[in-house]
Amino acid sequence: MARIQSRKEQHVRICLEEDVQYARGAGFSDIEFLHNSLPEIDMGKIDISTSFFGRRMDAPLIIDGMTGGYPKAKEINRKLAAVAAEHNVPFGLGSQRAMVENPILTQTYRVRDVAPDVFIIGNIGAAQIAHYPVAKIKSALEAIDANALAVHLNALQEAVQPEGDRNFEGVLSAISKLSDALRIPIIAKETGAGISADAAVRLKNAGVQMLNVSGAGGTSWSKVEYLRGKPVEGFREWGIPTVVSIVSCAYHLPLIASGGVRSGLDAAKSIALGAKMAAGAHPFLAAKDASLEIKNWKMQLRTAMFLTGSANLEKLAKARVFVTGRTAQLLQCLRVDVGEYAMR
Ligand SMILES: Cc1cc2nc3c(=O)[nH]c(=O)nc-3n(C[C@H](O)[C@H](O)[C@H](O)COP(=O)(O)O)c2cc1C
Repeated sequence: MARIQSRKEQHVRICLEEDVQYARGAGFSDIEFLHNSLPEIDMGKIDISTSFFGRRMDAPLIIDGMTGGYPKAKEINRKLAAVAAEHNVPFGLGSQRAMVENPILTQTYRVRDVAPDVFIIGNIGAAQIAHYPVAKIKSALEAIDANALAVHLNALQEAVQPEGDRNFEGVLSAISKLSDALRIPIIAKETGAGISADAAVRLKNAGVQMLNVSGAGGTSWSKVEYLRGKPVEGFREWGIPTVVSIVSCAYHLPLIASGGVRSGLDAAKSIALGAKMAAGAHPFLAAKDASLEIKNWKMQLRTAMFLTGSANLEKLAKARVFVTGRTAQLLQCLRVDVGEYAMR
């Protein structure tokens, strides 16, 4: 138990003090919008609001799940939840494993008093749901008043971590059982290695309502683990780049784009490629002023929408983009006609 707490503490410290970003990008630099010199819209009237599981959000942005389970985590969660509430965007908590195993730690996840109306996304690991009784997960979600549950898929991290839980047998059927039992929706969430189309289909069939692709190109969990201990070498750059994962999965389920989303322009590109929302973890943890960071992302998103003549997010979803470089090569290997994004 104490091991989980100190591991979560180490994760945040390493993410803040060391370079744990993938060297190979998420693919956003391979994506370019076709500029519209005649946008014929008023930038002041651009609407970036969206709906998220039936709730109106002011922007298609999410503060992604990171922490909980030790004293400093409480401070981080409360600070970021308050920022999410201020901007009316969803807020994700980190893995609730610590509080499931030691209920005293529940208070490090509770944010309702600082963010009474914020959309809260709870978080449990795939390897854990296969072993926890459903009632235990239900009560952990009720304890934080969650509006949705993210089941995180972190096979890469578990595989390289010396103390990792490498038994992923029964995960899909546990997700299916959970989706029948819960009243709130389930989001299947990677943690930086991306989701493929065939995994998306299996998750959809198990009752998952949304994916958070969390692709390769942002925070690298294998790099974090390499800095913690003596893991299996050679997997620093492993994973499906975020942009490839977005394009691969968008046809199957509504998507949250994450993993290396570093600006409102990256968020705009994600939406043009088929994502519904875009999320960031590390940028909001590291920001001196997370509220200002969101403000900047919103401004960049609006600017990209103005310059593509997109008055709202539905229009942005059809904006014309060039898919170039390594991203185009990878997508062509998956038989995606990348030219269609520029010609639509
Ligand atoms: C310090 C830190 C802790 C994290 N802990 C969790 C976690 O407990 N559960 C989870 O699903 N993802 C966790 N993540 C992964 C993020 O939610 C996200 O998927 C990943 O970092 C990629 O996004 P980024 O490139 O914007 O950081 C964590 C990320 C960071 C930076």
